[in-house]
Amino acid sequence: MNILILGSGGRESAFAWKISQSEKCSKLFIAPGNAGTSAYGKNVNLKPTDFEGIKKFVLGNAVKMVLVGPEEPLVKGIHDYFLADEELRRIPVIGPQSEGAKLEGSKDFSKKFMMKHGIPTAAFKTFTKANLQEGFKYLESQKLPIVLKADGLAGGKGVLICTTLKEAQQELQQMLQADKFGEAGSKVIIEQFLEGIELSVFVLTDGNSYKILPEAKDYKRIGEGDTGLNTGGMGSVSPVPFADADFMRKVEERVILPTINGLKSDGIPYKGFIFIGLMNDAGNPYVIEYNVRMGDPETESVIPRIESDFVDLLLGVAEGNLDQKELIVSEKIATTIMLVAGGYPGEYLKGRGITGIDNVRHSIVFHAGTESDNGVIKSAGGRVLAITSLKDTLFDSVQTATADAGRIYYDGRYFRHDIGQDLFP
Ligand code: AMP
Ligand code: GLY
Repeated sequence: MNILILGSGGRESAFAWKISQSEKCSKLFIAPGNAGTSAYGKNVNLKPTDFEGIKKFVLGNAVKMVLVGPEEPLVKGIHDYFLADEELRRIPVIGPQSEGAKLEGSKDFSKKFMMKHGIPTAAFKTFTKANLQEGFKYLESQKLPIVLKADGLAGGKGVLICTTLKEAQQELQQMLQADKFGEAGSKVIIEQFLEGIELSVFVLTDGNSYKILPEAKDYKRIGEGDTGLNTGGMGSVSPVPFADADFMRKVEERVILPTINGLKSDGIPYKGFIFIGLMNDAGNPYVIEYNVRMGDPETESVIPRIESDFVDLLLGVAEGNLDQKELIVSEKIATTIMLVAGGYPGEYLKGRGITGIDNVRHSIVFHAGTESDNGVIKSAGGRVLAITSLKDTLFDSVQTATADAGRIYYDGRYFRHDIGQDLFP
């Protein structure tokens, strides 16, 4: 079957790499893709939110499945668009309809969903411009630090952890009165600060049954030792040593089952990925957030550990028989290191020629923000390349990925040399 992947980052590169290995895939298209995805399929110059352009392409190229990488097209209703169209409705879209995508698209919605279904999460209250004064009062009654979250999609920037009451009040005012995050911040969630270690858990579901994919740890800060500004993610490791059988049993019982059952009982159809951002607080899981897609760079660590035919798993989602599919996961350890542009996550350098990719022999190089300029590979985004190494031991995996990251050069290249080292025994 012909498959179309929407997106252009490291996550989509990992999907494309895996799907291109499946006998069930005949032609693979990636829209828009990057300089690396053209090795696995054909790049198509279309934006993932250009629904009409996608329709034309899908019908013109006999595409029989669409895998949506990023959240934006899902929140904007690409799956609903397909279902509402006579010619498209039988072509499966992997990713929820807009109602399910609210789990990521509206933090207020997702918090209310968790409360309703008894899923452990931080205590919270939601405020708007109309009750700003109550918001100030509420802040006074809370412990510090305190977390403020814009309700809608804010490109990963909508979460503020405030350490003083003054800062929290100023930020609340900025969001609600000065439209700091525009429409996304017209509702603000004030949330208790959770202590603990973070973990990314991934679930694939057809709406009834589900498979728990390999979990991963994401390294969000730009600086070594988890310092400096937040980024989209500077590296990841899978599996995660503290996510042992006992902890994962709690995650399944307290979080995954009530999430899947809650979607069902609320009448929310859901076919796709659920990415659960968790805090492990003294062995107990609390949900920080849901995302309705896979994580990036977690996907670049998770996908190489999946040994089963990935297209077959996606067919299980599409056809509603995921329970009959087998998920085989490698015991090996995957470490992913992100090579980013100089200046990232602030204003960053672009269009720098990249050399040394061919020097990498023991890791997979997934392109993220790259483009081909007459055959020369150049940087085109903040996160440029993801280097993944799959090895028998954590030490080997971390060491190989770190060494291979160092084999690639471009002006301003930066990566963290400490990814995974906090997990060494
Ligand atoms: P999000 O955009 O929801 O992924 O939040 C970004 C990051 O902020 C998370 O990965 C956490 O590190 C942190 N964070 C969000 N909510 C909380 C919370 N309630 N307590 C502690 N840290 C949080
Ligand atoms: N790595 C975190 C995310 O994809 O949101």
